[in-house]
Amino acid sequence: MKGCRIVEKFVIHGGKQLHGEVNISGAKNAALAIIPAAVLCEDTCRIENIPNISDVKTMISILEYIGARTRFIKRDVLEIDTKNIKAMVTVPDDMTQKLRASYYLLGAMLGRFGCASVAMPGGCFFGVRPIDQHVRGFELLGADITTKGAVISASAAHLIGASVYMDNVSVGATMNVMLAAVKASGLTVIENAAKEPHVVDLANFLNSMGADVRGAGTDVIKIRGVRSLHGCTYSIIPDQIEAGTYMVAAGAAGGSITIKNVIPKHLESISVKLIESGIEVMEYDDSITIISDGKRPNKCIVKTMPHPGFPTDMQPQMAVLLSVANGTSYISESVWDNRFMYVEQLRRMGAKIQVDGKTATIEGMEYLVGAPVKADDLRAGAAMVIAGLIAKGETVVDNVHYIERGYENIIEKLIAVGADIERVTVLTDEDRIVAGAV
Ligand code: EPZ
Repeated sequence: MKGCRIVEKFVIHGGKQLHGEVNISGAKNAALAIIPAAVLCEDTCRIENIPNISDVKTMISILEYIGARTRFIKRDVLEIDTKNIKAMVTVPDDMTQKLRASYYLLGAMLGRFGCASVAMPGGCFFGVRPIDQHVRGFELLGADITTKGAVISASAAHLIGASVYMDNVSVGATMNVMLAAVKASGLTVIENAAKEPHVVDLANFLNSMGADVRGAGTDVIKIRGVRSLHGCTYSIIPDQIEAGTYMVAAGAAGGSITIKNVIPKHLESISVKLIESGIEVMEYDDSITIISDGKRPNKCIVKTMPHPGFPTDMQPQMAVLLSVANGTSYISESVWDNRFMYVEQLRRMGAKIQVDGKTATIEGMEYLVGAPVKADDLRAGAAMVIAGLIAKGETVVDNVHYIERGYENIIEKLIAVGADIERVTVLTDEDRIVAGAV
């Protein structure tokens, strides 16, 4: 039929409490830096605990495009052979546009070959997302950076260690400069570095390859260049944001779920906010149990900050919890210019949220009402799912491809703890559904 297309949606019937266990997958934002980091050696790396998400599939296809050979030797164990990677390959726009992390190919290829050519990255839209700190870091290491159309190229006869003071804390720039610096001659010191768990995970992976990276997880990272790197076997950390998303879902929906395969230390800022909102959080060595009677949470003030502050990637999910809190809550977003686009969708479900610049004022309602909504980006999509779990009636979430960029088996994991959620495939003519599951 003219103009028709097949789309997938999530259909959720709210009001069910959640009980049982959820197993957390490997961290998306660690995997998306570690997979390209394998380019730095001419060997084979075996990376365990790889999450089965579309962004990882895209990153693997980029590595294969430049000549790597990859294969899954187990469901979540990826083997990458980088011996035949070609130096003078431009990673094209249609690949890099699919995800933000494609810019790590710049640092990795520059670090291995002294040259790189990568089209501008894509990624969720939260307003302007410059990469000036990445470029400045590469230039301080001695690279010449040119842009031609959408393609950024970096080249350096040889990279020399330097002091790189980040104007603002940047996860991507910190990790990209690390990638370019591990084989530079001499010492590189990154100051005002990002301290996220995935920054530490990348540093640990690089050190497993024979690099000399110290101080990751603090404001100052010191990298002493080495002549060559070798393959290794490495297991990626659990996903802090996936775990946090299920913690908030359990707190909002009520019930008791144990979230397994986590590092509680990485979740502290989220646990603190849930406890403040009246939800019980019990920490164990590698799991966290959330117990909630399903009553309305207490109001809270949330400020997103770089790690170890409250993660910006948990901001939309927290807004859903607070949209049914007792009283008025406030969320201020300090990392991104425009990360409240999901509010429009929540308003369709009865939420009362006013956004003024970087602060959202949330007047807690007794309940939300199910409605057709859409995911504007990855974490906003996760927030719509949580909203559907707690709303009265049916919620249909569109644009679910965003959600599947970063949440492995989200439907299966939620059904296993009692959620009434299903993925449906519909034929639509843009404005309306013309047929059910096809
Ligand atoms: C990473 O994005 C994550 N993405 C984002 O997660 C996350 O929101 C963000 O870090 C902050 O934690 C990946 O790891 C793939 P930044 P990144 O550089 O590296 C400004 C998700 O949901 N900035 O730390 O792009 C920037 O505009 C995604 O998994 C510059 O000004 O974020 C922002 O205001 C969404 N110049 C701030 O720094 C630069 O050169 C933090 O950005 C770089 C960044």
